[in-house]
Amino acid sequence: MRQKLVIGNWKMHGGRDQADELVKCIVAGFKEVGNAVQIGVCPSFIRLEAVAKLLAEIDFEIRLGAQNVYYEDQGAYTGEVAAKMLAEIDVSLVIIGHSERREIFGETDSLVAAKFEAVQTHNMVPILCIGESFEERERGITNQAIIAQLDAVLDRVGVAAFRRAVIAYEPIWAIGTGVTATPEQAQEVHWTLRDYLAKRDAAVASAVRIIYGGSVNSANAREIFNQVDVDGGLVGGASLKAEEFLSICKSAN
Ligand code: PGA
Repeated sequence: MRQKLVIGNWKMHGGRDQADELVKCIVAGFKEVGNAVQIGVCPSFIRLEAVAKLLAEIDFEIRLGAQNVYYEDQGAYTGEVAAKMLAEIDVSLVIIGHSERREIFGETDSLVAAKFEAVQTHNMVPILCIGESFEERERGITNQAIIAQLDAVLDRVGVAAFRRAVIAYEPIWAIGTGVTATPEQAQEVHWTLRDYLAKRDAAVASAVRIIYGGSVNSANAREIFNQVDVDGGLVGGASLKAEEFLSICKSAN
């Protein structure tokens, strides 16, 4: 049985006061969620350490995630943050290859694969984001697009590495648009990804968590999370309000 996982991706939102307040409210409401669901939050780099301290004070687990990383351990890489540095402050999850990173910051499949490997080298769990554009879906090449992104990582690290990874299916056309994939569309892609992994290693494929992201909210979460191959969600906009986020987490229960 795969435990459901719901992660809040705060993106570049939440100044100091807002981030602290959000964490405190999530902590306060956590008991309503129940322990069948694992939850996590991904603040901006600059808030990570403060949020880590708040989360260290509680007696249950809310996982701390980063939104990005660089693959080298140190060096002259102005503006970058190493996986090693994240591991030092109790980060346990790192979002890799988000479509905003790929599209706005030009991240390539091979860079994403290098980051994936660096995160695991430092004993953290990569959340590998994969998703097709609107044009790719319209042209009927969704599967080719998502498999190409998965292959870039598989080629570098092998299927066994997915024992310690999460995949996030995030159709680009659904991110921040208010348009969600239908539960059937999500299920179809999640199954495609799992089936592709199963051809390489059935045990890894059945254990790996594949979560959905793209305009998830408290009104649509339950139906999406109910699909057999959907193991939770990566939530952007709706994770910025504690009550809404907690309600989405409850839907996964
Ligand atoms: P959204 O973002 O929920 O605001 O669509 C999801 C994501 O980008 O991870």
